[in-house]
Amino acid sequence: MRILAIETSCDETAAAVVEDGRRILSSIVSTQAAIHSPYGGVVPELASRHHLENICPVVSGAMAEAGMDYAGLDAVAVTQGPGLVGSLLVGVQAAKGLAFVHGKPLVPVHHIAGHLQAPFLAHEGEVPLPAIALVVSGGHTSLFEVPAAGEFHLLGRTRDDAAGEAFDKVAKLLGLGYPGGPIIDRLSQGADDRAVEFTIARIKDGKADFSFSGIKTAVLHHVRKNGIAPAADPSRPPREIRDLVASFQRAVVTALVRRLRQVAEDRSPASLLLTGGVAANSLLRKEAARTAADLGLPLFVPPISLSTDNAAMIAAAGFVAYARGIRAGWDLNAEAHLPLG
Ligand code: KG4
Ligand code: ZN
Repeated sequence: MRILAIETSCDETAAAVVEDGRRILSSIVSTQAAIHSPYGGVVPELASRHHLENICPVVSGAMAEAGMDYAGLDAVAVTQGPGLVGSLLVGVQAAKGLAFVHGKPLVPVHHIAGHLQAPFLAHEGEVPLPAIALVVSGGHTSLFEVPAAGEFHLLGRTRDDAAGEAFDKVAKLLGLGYPGGPIIDRLSQGADDRAVEFTIARIKDGKADFSFSGIKTAVLHHVRKNGIAPAADPSRPPREIRDLVASFQRAVVTALVRRLRQVAEDRSPASLLLTGGVAANSLLRKEAARTAADLGLPLFVPPISLSTDNAAMIAAAGFVAYARGIRAGWDLNAEAHLPLG
């Protein structure tokens, strides 16, 4: 069963062909990071225009790399939402066109269901269920229970900013560029992550929710109080900025891992999953691994290429959805806000 998947929810134009939900025959990701970098965040109108330019070469590239023609496909899967509506529309229309012309079933995929499938794609057949999954990206920070393949129960989520969004905003404030996560991750190596003590509010009403807007404001106050200017050379910021971002990163990672541990202790899963763009963070990977080892649980984290946005995870989630009989009609629309499950 070969599925072509298309992902255009944010600033990556991606296409992939995956066989039986587990063998990646091709995966192409064209990132627009350089286009949005001067603005310190994604400019939606620019993103959709660039998706339009990239979608045909990216899809043809994925088909060529897989050595496939369209007749050999069994289905076309596409990210329906959530995301930037103008960006999503480009992928949805392309997928509809291809599925219609070549007479293939069209399978709608939720972006987060894609991220949740990435650990299964990377560790085929190894993940014991039920699992507790922490999904951390630029748009989402959520904890799910995964009782069975393709089934997700939301346990908690951020009440304000997503963790990746906080990384991006702090990097923007300090003139470090976009996307902030990988930049802060790199600059934190060897810096003093105890230089500034940031505390992240714990949500105390019993829910497994997160909140990251407070720490962003705390960084802003620290910058103002200490008269810290944005980096003149973003590739070599001064020590005080490196220590500041390392301290910020440590606080965010501590909050994420603390919640993961608490939920795992409450629900006794058989495994832990960590996925989404922020799962690329080296400290988060290390701390999540330490927590899993403490709890005696296996932890499954996709490689970085499958953690950040890609279409292979959408094809894998599309395979699960297809097997459950999920199909879209030709009236499929992009949904900026789409609940999961
Ligand atoms: O999953 P993703 O590629 O797109 C969304 O669905 O949002 O996640 C992108 C987010 C961005 O906020 C980016 O700064 C963050 O993931 N990110 C990281 C790292 N690599 C990417 N955050 C922290 N450390 C990283 N190494
Ligand atoms: Zn994503």
